[in-house]
Amino acid sequence: MSAIAQIDRAIYESIKQKRKNPDNSGDLLSLLANAEDENGGKMSEQQLRDEAATMILAGHETTANTLCWTLMLLSRNPQVRAKLQQELEEVLSNKKPTFADYSRLKYTKMVIKESMRLYPAVRELSRQVSQDCELGGYKIPAGCILIMSQWVMHRNSDYFPNPEMFNPQRWAKDLETQLPKGVYFPFGDGQRVCIGKGFALLEAVLLLAAIAQKFELNLLSNDPIIPQPSITLRPEKGIKVILKKR
Ligand code: HEM
Repeated sequence: MSAIAQIDRAIYESIKQKRKNPDNSGDLLSLLANAEDENGGKMSEQQLRDEAATMILAGHETTANTLCWTLMLLSRNPQVRAKLQQELEEVLSNKKPTFADYSRLKYTKMVIKESMRLYPAVRELSRQVSQDCELGGYKIPAGCILIMSQWVMHRNSDYFPNPEMFNPQRWAKDLETQLPKGVYFPFGDGQRVCIGKGFALLEAVLLLAAIAQKFELNLLSNDPIIPQPSITLRPEKGIKVILKKR
């Protein structure tokens, strides 16, 4: 079965279940399945499928890659890992992380932000210019494609001293709000900013806390890990680690 057919089968099955038991349980698929337009019309099966597929693909691959890069960086930076561990012990004292802990997992969030600076899951955005315009002194004709690169901007030493260094501490004094627009934009910006931004940060922080609380992941070798600039930024040959239970 093709990959798309497999995804479709799983999604259509969930939609069927929701339609059968419209439980209004508050999950996204229930909300979408029950949503009505101004004339009382509901989404078709195909529309629901498209919404769900977008959420799965936009939301899963990006967060998974972010966690992958974060765990690689932590393995290469034991001092950062020790500091993260200290926070997890202080805030969680061995219980599972939940939404209620999120605001107190400050260093864990700084680790995720710094990891998304160095390895942004979406490493460039592009837009086609609809009419002739001028930007920063450059004349840009209609039809031209403009590329904004997170990879380039996030490693710009004007804004990030020692830019190649993995240093979560740089986010300590609310650096993000002080940076000019367009310098740090792992979730894009403007009208099409990532709709899942808040959820993604929450998910990444809680997942990292849950994983790091139980396991130490150490890279199997010191060989370079080459980023593959596909639609998302992923490790070309995966990342092999040894898992050690804490
Ligand atoms: C670390 C995780 C994530 C990263 C780095 C990320 C990054 C981005 C970026 C850069 C854009 C803007 C694309 C553009 O301007 O062309 C975007 C849009 C979008 N993201 Fe995310 N995303 C993440 C997680 C999620 C999650 C968890 C969801 C859903 C649950 C999601 C759903 C979407 C959707 C639907 C859009 C399109 C929004 C629109 O065009 O109005 N993303 N994301």
